[in-house]
Amino acid sequence: MSQMFVDISIFLLTFLTLCGVALSLFDPLSLSLIAGGASLVYNRGKVWEYTYCQLNECCIDSHIPANITALSQDLEENVFGQHIVQRQLVAALKSHYTHLDSSTKPLVLSFHGTPGTGKNYLADHIAKHVYKYGVSSYFVKKFMGRTDFPLESDVRHYQITLRTTIINAVNVCPRTLFIFDEVDKIPVGVFEALTSLLDHHHSVEGATLRFATFIFLSNAGGTEISAKLLELTENGALREETQLFNFEKILEGAAYNVNGGLRKTSMIEGSLIDHYVPFLPLEKRHIEKCIIAEFKRLGVDRPAFTDIEEISNNYVTYYKNIFSTSGCKRLSKKVAMYVADKYK
Ligand SMILES: *[C@@H]1O[C@H](CO)[C@@H](O)[C@H](O)[C@H]1NC(C)=O
Repeated sequence: MSQMFVDISIFLLTFLTLCGVALSLFDPLSLSLIAGGASLVYNRGKVWEYTYCQLNECCIDSHIPANITALSQDLEENVFGQHIVQRQLVAALKSHYTHLDSSTKPLVLSFHGTPGTGKNYLADHIAKHVYKYGVSSYFVKKFMGRTDFPLESDVRHYQITLRTTIINAVNVCPRTLFIFDEVDKIPVGVFEALTSLLDHHHSVEGATLRFATFIFLSNAGGTEISAKLLELTENGALREETQLFNFEKILEGAAYNVNGGLRKTSMIEGSLIDHYVPFLPLEKRHIEKCIIAEFKRLGVDRPAFTDIEEISNNYVTYYKNIFSTSGCKRLSKKVAMYVADKYK
């Protein structure tokens, strides 16, 4: 009996909402009244989920699928030469998103590596597979070092607005993803605002942070990664055998000492960054995979071997004749040029 009552009321409310939506085509004011009233009455229950959330993004499980298996497959196909990312980072993400209830602090990741090694690709594709609406999700907040924090003299102001932005965002959805790009261009001191937010707290000013994820992207440590990888492989290790712990201390040191947002932060002193993730410099064999993937993306399934060779030899600079200095960056334009010239 009561189930039937619930069903009928869901039906009625759905019907009313649809009427509201229809009305709103003509009158925006009534939409806001109906939406406002509806959200009070429904109190964000199932009815709200089946009506409002059909048309709008909500902070509900079905809009935050966090499909890490799909992320892993995506990386297999599109990111080359990053076995540590593929194994250890994916495991860290999987663990965070499958045991959210027992999480005691936000997941905090710092990505390091020379340009073109896939840091941005990874951050964007974490967003893509965690949120139904991907990078354009309302629950993904991306900051760019140079444009969002341009002035050394405004650090105090940045600290205040950043803290407020983060607290407001997790109040709307605790499972928010914060991405900070160009961390090495962010003035020293800005991140002091984050320290208390990233620590083990039940809540900060009423906001719950332990379900959130923070990702910092930085070129700092890139040369140190290359040097360490070279040292390890010269001592007989295979590239694919190197692990997260081989690089973490170096990266922590680099982040702490190199100029930029993480320099001398209490965030590092307090060990609040969970993983320093190395993006390894790419070798020629990885560059060639990027080129092949790019051809494929442009509809050429079997590019000529000589074209692949030509691009990887003539348009890519190799540091110490081994590691590419710009990774897979800019290759897409070169491949596009070949496709337009020879394959169309
Ligand atoms: C996750 O993604 C994989 C591969 O794309 C898919 O097969 C699977 O159904 C997805 N799982 C969920 C829970 O959506």
